[in-house]
Amino acid sequence: MSSKDPGTQLRGRQSECEALDRHLAAVRAGHSAVVGLRGEAGIGKTALLEHVAGHADGCGVVRTAGVESEMQLAFGGLHQLCVPFLDHLGRLPDPQRAAIETAFGMSEGTPPDRFLVGLAVLSLLADVAQHKPLICLVDDAQWLDHVSAQILGFVARRLMADEVGLVLAVREPDGEHLLHGLPELVVEGLREPDARALLDSAIHGGFDERIRGRTLAEARGNPLALLELPRASSVADMRRPRPAHGDSRRVHIMSHDHAAQAAASESWMNAARMLQDAAPLTIPEGASAMTIEVEWEPGDPGTPPHRHSGPAFGYVVEGAVRFELEGEPERVVEAGGTFWEPGGDVIHYQDGNALGDGRTRFVVTMMCAPGKPMLELVSKEELEQRAHLRAPRPTG
Ligand SMILES: Nc1ncnc2c1ncn2[C@@H]1O[C@H](COP(=O)(O)OP(=O)(O)OP(=O)(O)O)[C@@H](O)[C@H]1O
Ligand SMILES: [Mg+2]
Repeated sequence: MSSKDPGTQLRGRQSECEALDRHLAAVRAGHSAVVGLRGEAGIGKTALLEHVAGHADGCGVVRTAGVESEMQLAFGGLHQLCVPFLDHLGRLPDPQRAAIETAFGMSEGTPPDRFLVGLAVLSLLADVAQHKPLICLVDDAQWLDHVSAQILGFVARRLMADEVGLVLAVREPDGEHLLHGLPELVVEGLREPDARALLDSAIHGGFDERIRGRTLAEARGNPLALLELPRASSVADMRRPRPAHGDSRRVHIMSHDHAAQAAASESWMNAARMLQDAAPLTIPEGASAMTIEVEWEPGDPGTPPHRHSGPAFGYVVEGAVRFELEGEPERVVEAGGTFWEPGGDVIHYQDGNALGDGRTRFVVTMMCAPGKPMLELVSKEELEQRAHLRAPRPTG
C-alpha cells in the first residue's frame, strides 16, 4: 500500500502519520530524525513506511530491508542501503573509504573494522544529504544480518544535524532489542471504527453480523488479520456445526481398504452418527484434551463470561443450554444438540440452563494449552471495553 497510489488509503493511523510527518518536517528543516516502528506481524509497519515514502517531498528516499534467508550474509542490508551512493565514496576520509570498500567487496583486504565502516556510512549519508535531505527506510530490521543491524544502530545513535532521517520497522517480539535506546513508535491495533471500516472494505457480498463481530474480536485491530480473516471465516462458517437432530448421515471413519477387511461384520460401520463436524481449528501447541460433565439446576445462569485457551466441543445430554459466544446471538441448544467454540480471544458469555423447570446436563471436551487453566474468567473492565463486540441482547 502506498499513500501515493490514488485509491489506496490507510485506515486510522492519524496520530502515527502525524508523528512521522513531524520527523519529515524536522529533516527538511535541517535536523536529523530517527524513529523505530515496532509492532507485531501484519500490524501495518510497512504501510507506515510507505506513508513516509509517499510524503517525503523534497527529500531523497533510500531503502533497505532485512531478508530472513539472507541473515548470514554480512553487510548485505547495509550494502543495499548504500549502493545508490557508491559514487560518493571518493569524498570519504581514506580509512573510512577503505573500510567500506572492503566491507562491500569492492577491494580486497582483511575484514574491516566495524567502527570505521559505521563512520563511513555516517559520512556517506551526511555527504549525500548535503544536496537534498535524505530519508532512509529500513523494513523488517529483525532480519537484517547482524553486522548491518549493529552498524545501523551505531549510525542511528550518532546522526547529528545532518538532514538525514532514519525510520526502522521491526517486528516484535523477534527484533525488539534492535531499537534499544532509540525513539520508538509502537504500532498497535486499529481502533474499532477503523478496524470495522477496513473489515467492511475486505468483504465482498453478504457477511453475517455474528461473524463480523467474531472477526473483529479475533483480529484485535490487526489490519492483516482483518483483511485475511473474512475468507477464513466464511469457510469456517460453512463448516460450522450441522444440525445434530435428525441428521442420519453416517460417518465415514475409515478407508476403503479397511472397509474390505472389515466386511465380515458391518454393523459397527453404521453405528456412528454425525453429531458435529467442526473446522477449521487452531489447537494450541502441546494442548491436552479434557472432557467434563456439567450439570445445572433449573434457571442456573452457568459459568460467568470466560475464555478457553483452545477449542471446546460440547454435547447436551439433558435439558437445554443457553449458549452465547462473543459476536454471536445467544441460542438454545437442546438435548442431543452440539456446540463448539474456537477458544483463544473469543469470550464465552453463556453456558447456563435455559430451562426454568428442569435440569440441564452437558458434556464438553476442551483443549487446553499447557499450563493454562481449563477456563479463565474475563474481568469486569475487559467486559466493559469489549461490550460493543457482544451481539445485541434479546429484548423482552
Ligand atoms: N491502516 C491501514 N489501513 C488499511 N490497510 C492497512 C493498514 N495498515 C496495514 N494495512 C494492510 O494490512 C496488511 C499488513 O500490513 P503491513 O504489511 O504493513 O504489516 P507489517 O506490520 O509490515 O507486517 P510484517 O511484520 O509481516 O512485515 C497490508 O496488506 C497492508 O496494506
Ligand atoms: Mg512489513
